[in-house]
Amino acid sequence: MDREVSLNRADTFSFINPWIRYFLFIFSLLFWVFSLLIIAIGVYAKVEKATDTVRDTFLIDPAIILIVVGVVMFFITFCGCIGALRENIKLLKAFSLSLTLVFLSQLAIAVLGFFYSDKTRGTLGKFVKKAIIHYRDDIDLQNLIDYIQKEFKCCGYNNYTDWSRNLYFNCTQENPSRERCAVPYSCCTPVPGEVVINTMCGFGVQNLNYLEATKSIYPLGCADKTAGWIESHLLLVGALALGLVLPQIAGIVLSQILISQIEDEISSIL
Ligand SMILES: *[C@@H]1O[C@H](CO)[C@@H](O)[C@H](O)[C@H]1NC(C)=O
Ligand SMILES: *[C@@H]1O[C@H](CO)[C@@H](O)[C@H](O)[C@H]1NC(C)=O
Repeated sequence: MDREVSLNRADTFSFINPWIRYFLFIFSLLFWVFSLLIIAIGVYAKVEKATDTVRDTFLIDPAIILIVVGVVMFFITFCGCIGALRENIKLLKAFSLSLTLVFLSQLAIAVLGFFYSDKTRGTLGKFVKKAIIHYRDDIDLQNLIDYIQKEFKCCGYNNYTDWSRNLYFNCTQENPSRERCAVPYSCCTPVPGEVVINTMCGFGVQNLNYLEATKSIYPLGCADKTAGWIESHLLLVGALALGLVLPQIAGIVLSQILISQIEDEISSIL
C-alpha cells in the first residue's frame, strides 16, 4: 500500500524542483552551523576576557558584536533550512524578507561609507587613537596593532609621533617611563641578517626628525598605508564583498523560486 502511494507520487508531476529545495536546505544548513560557530567564538571571547579595555576602545565589545551577528544569522538560516525541508511558505518568506533587509542595510552602509569617506576615516582615526592609548592595557589589542604595523609596514596612525598619545611612549621630559619617546618594535624595519629581534630598536625614535627616524622604522602612518593597500587591491576587496553578498542574493532568489513553486503546487492540488 505504502509502495503504491509512493509510486503514484513519483509518477505525478510536481511543481517543486527537488534540486532547488535541497540546495537551499544544504546551503542554509551550512550557514546555520557557521552561525553556531560564530556564537561559540563570541561567547568564548566574552568569557575569556576579564578586562574591559577592548570595549572602551571600540565603544562596543567585539565579542558582543560576534554574538549578535551569530544569533541573527542563526534565526535567519534556521528559517531557510526548516522552510526548505518542510516546504513551509511562512518560514521561507521570513527567510527571504530578513535576508533582503540584511542585504539592503549592508548596501546602505557601503554607500554611506563611500560618500562620507572623510567622516569614515575620521571615525576610524578615533578608534585607532584610542587603540594606541590602550596598547599596553590589553594583550589582544597589542597583538592586533603589532600585526597591522608589521603587515602594512606602517607606524602610528598619521605618523610615528602618534605614539606619544600612549602613556608609556609619551615624549614629555617628565615621563618616567623607560620607553619615553620610543615606538613599539613592530614599527621597526627588519635589519637584513638579524636573527634575534632587537626589541629596543624603536627607542628614542620620536626625538629624531623624519629622515633620521625613517632609517630604522616604517616612515608612513597606517592610515595612508591601508588606504593605499585598499586602492591597489580593489579587485580583492571587490571579491571579498561579492563573497559576502552573493550567498545572500542566492538565498533570496532561490527562496523566492521555491515559494512560488510551492504556491503553484498548492493551487494545483486545490
Ligand atoms: C604626553 O603627556 C603630557 C603630560 O601628561 C600631555 O600633556 C601630552 O598631551 C601627552 N602627549 C600626547 C601626544 O598625548
Ligand atoms: C606627524 O603628524 C602630525 C599630525 O598629524 C604632524 O603635526 C607632524 O608634523 C607629523 N610629524 C612628522 C615628523 O611628519
